[in-house]
Amino acid sequence: MRFDLLPKDFRKIHFKRNISFDFVPKHDPCNAKNVSILQEFVAKYSKIFVLTGAGVSTESGLPDYRSKEVGLYDRSPNRPVQYKDFISSLGVRKRYWARNFAGWKRFSSALPNNIHYTLALWEQKSIIHRLVTQNVDRLHHKAGSTLVTELHGTSYLVRCLDCPNLFSRHLFQIRLAELNPDFKVEATEIAPDADVHLSPELTKNFNVPSCDKCGGMLKPDVVFFGENVLKEKVFETYKSVDESDAVLVLGSSLEVFSGFRFVSRASESNKCIGIVNIGPTRADKLASFKITARCGDILPKIKI
Ligand SMILES: NC(=O)c1ccc[n+]([C@@H]2O[C@H](COP(=O)([O-])OP(=O)(O)OC[C@H]3O[C@@H](n4cnc5c(N)ncnc54)[C@H](O)[C@@H]3O)[C@@H](O)[C@H]2O)c1
Ligand SMILES: [Zn+2]
Repeated sequence: MRFDLLPKDFRKIHFKRNISFDFVPKHDPCNAKNVSILQEFVAKYSKIFVLTGAGVSTESGLPDYRSKEVGLYDRSPNRPVQYKDFISSLGVRKRYWARNFAGWKRFSSALPNNIHYTLALWEQKSIIHRLVTQNVDRLHHKAGSTLVTELHGTSYLVRCLDCPNLFSRHLFQIRLAELNPDFKVEATEIAPDADVHLSPELTKNFNVPSCDKCGGMLKPDVVFFGENVLKEKVFETYKSVDESDAVLVLGSSLEVFSGFRFVSRASESNKCIGIVNIGPTRADKLASFKITARCGDILPKIKI
């Protein structure tokens, strides 16, 4: 997206849209002191490595996992599918795809919020060295960011595990609909990974197609719990940390080691680490500053 070609008041138009607070944990308004801390950070560093988590998408109406009261783990006994269960059981794959099919329309219609747009603007102003997201919702791309690494893949692609076939999740939705003409359930409330709760009765007869090129098993292009991020992606991301002059974590508890390791790497080389997160994070002790605020409140207040 070319921000310089947009009308002057575009920020007002875009930044006011699509804010949803249903899944944002309790928080206080950000204060002037915190704004000036972040302002100073952004003014000082020009090659910032930004790491985002589920907390940057809660304001787009997608829940996170670990927030008190509003996060999925506090509201429901459901847990995301494990890689080994998905690979080894047809029943689990039927359940996964039936629920994902029901949640797709709602999940894929989520729109970027203030945070995504602000980061796209920061990229335009050349202060972001790399934007690494743990999210699979494509919202940074939708806002116009291009220097994005999707650490855990994306829900927007489907991959064959036996051949190089990789294709659009939107197309797969059409295929699933054709194979399941009587399956009319549609979700109103979804989990962070587009999962919705449906009874086993509803999902056990769901038809799951195999790869039309080789007959292999199909899986969303997402790193499941219990699965590893590709080594090449990890090394490339370490390299980006090393090349950057500071790290900014936004909306992540960093409980998952996969994201935490990059903050730990930055700490080993004494880089400045800033965190903006409502709840506690695993790296609070490593941070040069921790701001307890809503990202969509503080980020648009930063002047660049
Ligand atoms: N939208 C998505 O694609 C999505 C959503 C949830 C989880 N995931 C996956 O699950 C894992 C979860 O780890 P995680 O650390 O990203 O999520 P998490 O649920 O562990 O942590 C989210 C953190 O964000 C904070 N938060 C929530 N809304 C906020 C806001 N508006 N402003 C500031 N802080 C806010 C919460 O206090 C919480 O500490 C990741 O590995 C990710 O791949 C993806
Ligand atoms: Zn195949």
